[in-house]
Amino acid sequence: MKQTDEDPAMRTTTSDAGPAPVPIIDPRKGDLEDDALSPKQRSLLSIAGSLFAEISLPKLLSAWFLSIVLPGILLGASPLVASAWLTKITSGIGALAGAGAIVFLVGMAVIGWFGWRPLFRLAEYNFWTLNSVAVQPGYALCREALQHLAERLFATDQDNRRRANLRARSALGAGLLLCSLAIALAAMAWPYTRWQGFASDFMQPHRLVVPTLANAVALVSGYLAAASLGWGIADSAMDQPAAVSVFDSPTAGARTWRVAHLSDVHVVGERYGFRIECGRGGPQGNGRFVQLMDRLAAIHAENPLDIVLISGDLTDAGRSSEWAEFMDIMSRHLDLAARTLILPGNHDVNIVDRANPARLDLPLSRGKRLRQLRTLSAMDAIQGDRVRIVDPTTLVAGPAVRNALAPYRERMAAFADSGRFALSLALRRPWQDFFPMVVPPATDDGLGVVILNSNAETHFSMTNALGLMTIEQASRMAAAMRQFPRAVWIVALHHHLVEYPMAVKAFSERIGTALVNGSWFVRMLQPFARRAVVMHGHRHIDWIGAIGDLRIVSASSTVMAAKDDQPSYFLIHRLTTDGNGKLGLLEPERIDMPAGEASCGRFTNA
Ligand SMILES: [Fe+2]
Repeated sequence: MKQTDEDPAMRTTTSDAGPAPVPIIDPRKGDLEDDALSPKQRSLLSIAGSLFAEISLPKLLSAWFLSIVLPGILLGASPLVASAWLTKITSGIGALAGAGAIVFLVGMAVIGWFGWRPLFRLAEYNFWTLNSVAVQPGYALCREALQHLAERLFATDQDNRRRANLRARSALGAGLLLCSLAIALAAMAWPYTRWQGFASDFMQPHRLVVPTLANAVALVSGYLAAASLGWGIADSAMDQPAAVSVFDSPTAGARTWRVAHLSDVHVVGERYGFRIECGRGGPQGNGRFVQLMDRLAAIHAENPLDIVLISGDLTDAGRSSEWAEFMDIMSRHLDLAARTLILPGNHDVNIVDRANPARLDLPLSRGKRLRQLRTLSAMDAIQGDRVRIVDPTTLVAGPAVRNALAPYRERMAAFADSGRFALSLALRRPWQDFFPMVVPPATDDGLGVVILNSNAETHFSMTNALGLMTIEQASRMAAAMRQFPRAVWIVALHHHLVEYPMAVKAFSERIGTALVNGSWFVRMLQPFARRAVVMHGHRHIDWIGAIGDLRIVSASSTVMAAKDDQPSYFLIHRLTTDGNGKLGLLEPERIDMPAGEASCGRFTNA
């Protein structure tokens, strides 16, 4: 057989010696391993079965302890520690008199000023941890379950008004239901709570176990009762999402920006690689993304684009080889790369193991930090000089990401090389503090972009798609936007804010993927509604709609929407302003992508 440079197993040409050999199982077409985590190829029950068969129990217990039990203990113990400390001071003052008592009091106040703040911060941090891990997802699950059930039973037609009505009522029902359950839980825990601690307790800490846990249950369920009622009322009273069918008209002389909105390109690291979500039912390799960028470059050469936004899931599993492919493809189009903005999706940071659905990440795992740093590193390379962080103290647009990352560069490289735990701890700050990133408007009445990280910190393959908007990010975003009251804004994130007003096929699509506090975030955005448009991806659905005045654009995935030999499309949006902070959304340009050659189709004897 004649030898060539190619891998003999992959050779497709014939020679004097006859056709190239083809293995019995053609590896180019993939096999069942490629479908291991694909909900499109396997039922959710079957994936869950594999998961439970392979899960590591010690890891599961550790994750549960670190995510739920430990924050609960720290929260429940806080009042006992604080009151024991106060009692100690009061008895100390009682034993003194005159100037001695004043000096003692001042001394204690100074110590308390510094001592209380860490304790308060610890309690607050653990409270919000429990909130994001258990409370808000619990409410969102209950609301979506009721809404799903109500729509299935009563909104079988296409009447969107009826669907919106049902959604509003179900949200109120979910609030009332959870509020009642939480009150019952708090009442059950109450007899075991204790809010007064004594120094002697700490000599026999086992006495604190029951009151600590009961305190945590009472605090969290008390909060759940109040919050779920508040969320239920707010969700039912707010505007429901509606599709936009009429676009703004261009005003003569008004500034217009062209924004190509791509999303969920899920770049893979192998030439024949399939995606986790589609398995063998979806595209293979990166041919579609290459084709998409080539097309975009041709469009840009003819009629320049202002921004290319890729709203997350740039890679399929956040692996180095995938980022390498992504950067390679971008480097072929430097002109486009210079106006591209990227942001993290759940596939970039939350996929623990693309082949093993049972693998868990512990909260302090190196893998999670590594995926975060790979993403940050790519964001720095693509847009680090154009995008700024919001200064956490002054809340104004601070240094460029590249400058802000400068003190961390060496440690990032060292961590990627060694994975040392101390480095991982030191490197948690850039990920926590650098979002939102902001592209400030070039002029007071220009267009700015806010780039958010909407990924929840999950440790489990099954929950990788969950989103959460942190209060810090939302308030920094609002501060940055308030700095430019005449500017218009793109608010870019990966996750959808709320469910679309359209029938959903499966409940899992509805609950496993949403931004758990999305409706709260919509309310946060209302003051900016007339001058902002939200652009997101994640659902792979093209939808343009509004909630009240707030316009929302969801991008389909041009890569994932179809197999390689099927056509797809993407949109170029046109934004405009009246110069006084009112954003106009003009009718978008639809760019059709012809069917590509199927990856396997290149091999004629396959
Ligand atoms: Fe996603």
